[in-house]
Amino acid sequence: MATAAAIALAFGSPALAQDVDIQEYIDMFELLPAMPPIPAGTTMSEERIELGRMLFFEPRISASGVISCATCHNPALGWSDRIPRAVGHGGQVGDRNTPTVLNSGWLEAQFWDGREPDLEAQALGPIQADIEMNLTLDEAVERLAEFEIYRNAFAAAFPDDPDPVNAPNVALSIAAFERTLNTPNSPFQRFLLGDRMAMTDQQVRGMQLFVDGGCVACHNGPILSDSQFHRFELPGSRDEGRFLVTGDERDRFAFRTPTLLNVAVTYPYFNNGSVDNLHDAVQLMGQQMLGQDFETDELDDLVAFLHALTGEMPTVEIPALP
Ligand code: HEC
Ligand code: HEC
Repeated sequence: MATAAAIALAFGSPALAQDVDIQEYIDMFELLPAMPPIPAGTTMSEERIELGRMLFFEPRISASGVISCATCHNPALGWSDRIPRAVGHGGQVGDRNTPTVLNSGWLEAQFWDGREPDLEAQALGPIQADIEMNLTLDEAVERLAEFEIYRNAFAAAFPDDPDPVNAPNVALSIAAFERTLNTPNSPFQRFLLGDRMAMTDQQVRGMQLFVDGGCVACHNGPILSDSQFHRFELPGSRDEGRFLVTGDERDRFAFRTPTLLNVAVTYPYFNNGSVDNLHDAVQLMGQQMLGQDFETDELDDLVAFLHALTGEMPTVEIPALP
């Protein structure tokens, strides 16, 4: 029987051959840059980020005075809420699962149906949504303007604006803060950077299957989302997804690809949060998106890989509000 060493002598170092092989997979992925792209016309000053941090945790921009962005996008819960569907104003349960805001600056379409293009456009939606924070923007701005701390913070963040406490500036500040909520240094990121010990053998196999199996067709780019819409029918769900925005028949039941970074800590899964574990989520993806039933050991490898996508959580101090 030929020993591994004898084979290595005959065919060159197997370790080296494997390394060359792995590089082809690594080339399929992109590193997460330090900051997402900043849209034209926006600036990211310290003052804006600071104000955005206050507003993100501010419950008084909700009708009840108890719901803030952080109620549903809770920093202790992967900046999400770990319940299937969001609970907002008056305990109402919405139709959709709360996505994490981590790394959301890279998404080219916000919300499961992509109805807003960027974080600025997104930010004022939840304040007004009757099932979320249920407050008019005028009231929200009026409440903020009562506090000297906010009047000063808006003036510092928007020095050229004569009347800076206004709704567009609320959106600009929250979006600036959200763009700082990124998660570098995951085992996968370190692996891409050349640390071959950062992922286990199983995770490396999972990464290879993620490419060979076709997941990377939609889950690609720095946050493993193409920001595109794909048809996905969840058993029992009537949510028509992108169709509700475009009215285009081809968009019926289509949803925007979510990021997979930190997916191990942002359960439950899918647009209605109906799947509570990664095994089932990946199996459904295989069946619906790729027409393929993965074997148990393949699912184990893919799930192990998804666990390598958890990065360093941003350190955000909870603000002391007025
Ligand atoms: C009641 C719970 C709740 C509150 C409060 C809330 N959100 Fe959300 N958020 C959600 C849900 C649910 C969605 C997905 C809705 C959809 O796709 O239709 C979402 C989506 C988002 C997204 C899009 C992420 C993505 O992957 O598409 C961002 C960004 C976001 N919220 C930021 C905020 C900000 C900023 C606030 C405060 C102004 C806020 N949210 C308040 C539940 C909430
Ligand atoms: C054709 C595009 C496409 C392919 C291929 C694809 N996905 Fe997805 N993936 C999506 C979309 C779209 C969603 C959101 C579905 C929804 O909730 O409506 C999603 C959701 C997920 C989720 C749930 C994330 C969350 O936060 O809810 C996981 C996990 C996932 N995909 C993993 C995979 C894996 C692993 C593969 C390969 C086996 C794969 N996907 C193949 C488009 C795709």
